[in-house]
This record gives sequence, C-alpha cells and structure tokens, in this order.
Amino acid sequence: MSALPADPHLPAIHLRPPHNWINDPNGLVFHNGHYHVFFQYNPHGPQHSNVHWGHFRSPDLINWEPLPVALAPTPDGYDADGCYSGNAVSVDDRMVAFYSAHRNDRWWQPITTAESQDNGRTWAKRPQLLIPEPPAGTTMYRDPYVWRQADRWRMLVGSALDDGRAAALLYESTDLENWAYLGPFHTSDAAADTGPIGWECPQYATFGDRSALIVSDWTPKNGPSHTTVHTGREKDGRFAADSPPAPLDHGPDFYAPALLKAPGDDRWLLWAWAWEARDDAWAREAGWAGVLTLPREVSLTADGTVAQRPAREVLALRGARTLHRTGHVTQAEPVELGQVSPTFDLAAALVLDATGTTGLRLITSADGAEYLDIRLDPAAGHLTVDRSHASLDTRARGGSYTLPFPAMKRPGSPAELRVIVDRSIAEICLADEQVLTLRFYPLGEGPWRLQARTTGTLRSEFAVEAWDLDPAEALREPTLAGRGLAPTDCFPA
Ligand code: FRU
Repeated sequence: MSALPADPHLPAIHLRPPHNWINDPNGLVFHNGHYHVFFQYNPHGPQHSNVHWGHFRSPDLINWEPLPVALAPTPDGYDADGCYSGNAVSVDDRMVAFYSAHRNDRWWQPITTAESQDNGRTWAKRPQLLIPEPPAGTTMYRDPYVWRQADRWRMLVGSALDDGRAAALLYESTDLENWAYLGPFHTSDAAADTGPIGWECPQYATFGDRSALIVSDWTPKNGPSHTTVHTGREKDGRFAADSPPAPLDHGPDFYAPALLKAPGDDRWLLWAWAWEARDDAWAREAGWAGVLTLPREVSLTADGTVAQRPAREVLALRGARTLHRTGHVTQAEPVELGQVSPTFDLAAALVLDATGTTGLRLITSADGAEYLDIRLDPAAGHLTVDRSHASLDTRARGGSYTLPFPAMKRPGSPAELRVIVDRSIAEICLADEQVLTLRFYPLGEGPWRLQARTTGTLRSEFAVEAWDLDPAEALREPTLAGRGLAPTDCFPA
C-alpha cells in the first residue's frame, strides 16, 4: 500500500483533505470530462465555521485531484459567514453552482450562484443574491438543488414551515436567472410528537416515471438527525409519495447525501457526509473531522425501494487479495479467517443457520478485546452492526444498529455482504441493496484479523474474500491561495 497517513483514523481512500473540518458533499456534477465533488470545508480548523467549498475532481471516480478552494465567504458580503450547501449544473462551457449564502445576522440562507468558465478552477459570484427572501410561512430555508427537466430548470430548497412540517420548496426557471416560486413540492406529515422538523439538502432522482426525493431531517432543537427517502411519482407538479419514508442508510453517521447523474450510462451516483462519532475534543486533537462516503450507485428496485451499492469503479481500487476462505462455522468455536489491512474491501456469502446469529468479527487489538461485530439474524430478518467494543477509547461512540433484510428469511439462500472499511469508517452493504455506514476508532496496534462466528446450534457456511484497497493517489491539502494556478503550484506537499 502507498504511504499511509500517520493518523491511524484518517481514511486512505475516502475523500477528504488531510486536515480540518468537512461536512456535506456539494455541487456534484460531471462537466467537461470530469466528475466534480465539492464539499463544505473550513480551511482553518476542525470545527464547523467559516465554511468554504473545497473541491476534488476525477476523470474516472478512481483518481482524484484536489483543486483550489472554489468558494470562499466574501468579507461583509451576502455570504460573509459561510458558503453553505447547494449543487451545480453544467451548461455548455460553464459550471454554475447554486448555494446557500450564510450570514449570522439572518435566520435563512438565501440562494445565490457562482459561475466558472475554466472547469471549476476560478469562480465569479453573482453580485446580488439570486433569491433573497424565503416565501412567507417558512422558519428555515437553505440548500438549493437544481436540475434540468424537459424544457425547464427546476430547483428544490430545503425548508421548515411554521406549522412544524418540513418541506422541499419548488421553483422553476427557463434561463437559470429568473425563478418562479411554485409552492412546496413535498412536505412531511403534520408534526406529531416529533416536534417541528425541517428538511436540509433535498435531492431528487428520477427513474422513468418514478422518482425518489431524498431529504436530511433536521430539528431546531437538535440539528442534523438522519436521512430519509420518499419514493413515488410526480402528479400535477407535486411529488406524490406512494410509500412511507424510509431511512436511506441504516447507520448512525450518514447525513446530507447528494446526487450526481453520471453521463452516458444514466446512473445516479451518491456521496454523503459521514460525521465523527467521537467527542469533539478528540477530533480537535486530531485536527480533522468528517469524511465523504465512497460514491454509491442508487437505483429503484421493482418493489419500489431505493437500492444502493458501492459504485462499480471502486472495484478498481482493489489491490492484493489478502484473504480467501470457504468453510463452515459452528457454535463450538470461531473460525480464524486471516488478516486484513486497515483499508480493505470484503465480499462474503453466508448460508445461515437459522437457529442463531452468524457473522464476522473484525478484531483490531492483539488480545481480541477490541472488535467490530457484524451479525446476521435470519429469524429476525436483519443485520446488526455492533460497535460497542470497537474502540478501547471511551471517547468513541458505541451502540449497535440494524439493517432490515426480509429476503434473509428465505432459508438456504445466501446472504451477500460487502464490507468496505477504511481505518475509521465502515460501509456495510447487504445484497447490493441496503447500506449501513458508521464510524469507529480502533486503538489496537493490530494486525487486524477477521473471524467467522455463530451462535446457532447447527452450522453456517461461508465464502469470504478480502482485498487491500489502495489509494489511487495520496490526497493533499487544498490551498486558499491557489486560484488560477497549475495544480502543482496549488498543493504544497
Ligand atoms: C447540512 C447543513 C446544510 C447547510 C450546511 C452548512 O449538514 O447544515 O443545511 O447548508 O450543512 O455547512
């Protein structure tokens, strides 16, 4: 593996700069031969303040190049306290970013734009705000998502309504300049005992005549919470959900996902923010916080649920195959499967003994006291990821989380698991469909090793393969001063 970061928790293949704070992915767009991933970024420290748009690009979703910071707050300007989230579109030679202009002296973040005519290297902000005021009756307002549909441009803006409901507000335009407000595209149900909520970062994917609205639930009291997906179709200019909202990811550390429509093959790609699951003081010591998930492919299954899997390109990061075992495990003793590196990709097929739970244990300390457990429970029809023992440091969050998988109740059919671990993040995908993302912070010096374990009274069969994942290129620090310079001038070693 190429030079590993000295900080054992700093991911090697997930996108983020080596230092400082990041949150939401922003401005995801394919433009002129490159995928562009911008992200909320504080270049001055590991805490959420003074947010800029950092920038990576890639021709292939494998090799990523850091580019100069794209958007910085303008002192005394309409975005003086932060260039908050939004997306971007590609129009001929231009990239147009739509974002939320943050100032501490107003409660809403009005919508504005910036434009780049040199593939995202330099940006010109619109002199005045594009949409200065929120519509009446809103109590939160930010995060534009703009897309082209038929002969017009459409925009959703995340919002909270004064009756306690969350809403994605709809605007339309023919020229990206003049926007007509058309009312809520979709709202949450009337606030019950949950209290008032708002939706941040609405995203919208169409699949033929069906569609999925992805929103990040936020409350005035506790801030960011989790992400839900609403599936349905559009009727008379409004979104009509045809099933109850579902979690988009079943883990505790996944928020503000954003979509990118890939060119040519019509795939919907998605990145999200995986926040820290350790106390702030520890993140401050480390000097960084937050990571973007790997790119995922999002699709709609025949039964109308949204399925996700790691983008197929991620397979190209597989290096040496470190482990390949088939066999069975019984209650009598766990089976040692072998060693893995701290950044690995694993594929497993398990034929489960329905009398108990069966799974994999990732052991990260020599004495076996520190481990992350992944357990499948065919009787309950779910998978559990338990990080209660995943860090010997009590400043790391614990808990266990489940991912439903009804198909697992079919006896004899193998459960297919894909686990991608990158030092302090695990993305666990079941049957190429449902994903659970979490952060964990092993302290153990390793070597890391895997076990198969079961509590069933019969036996479970397994086939497990794992590969080292190699970063295509070490990620370097974006610079603030580098506007318009060649990449080598921009990123000091
Ligand atoms: C979501 C969010 C957005 C906002 C941005 C600020 O995590 O709160 O609503 O635009 O982050 O960084």
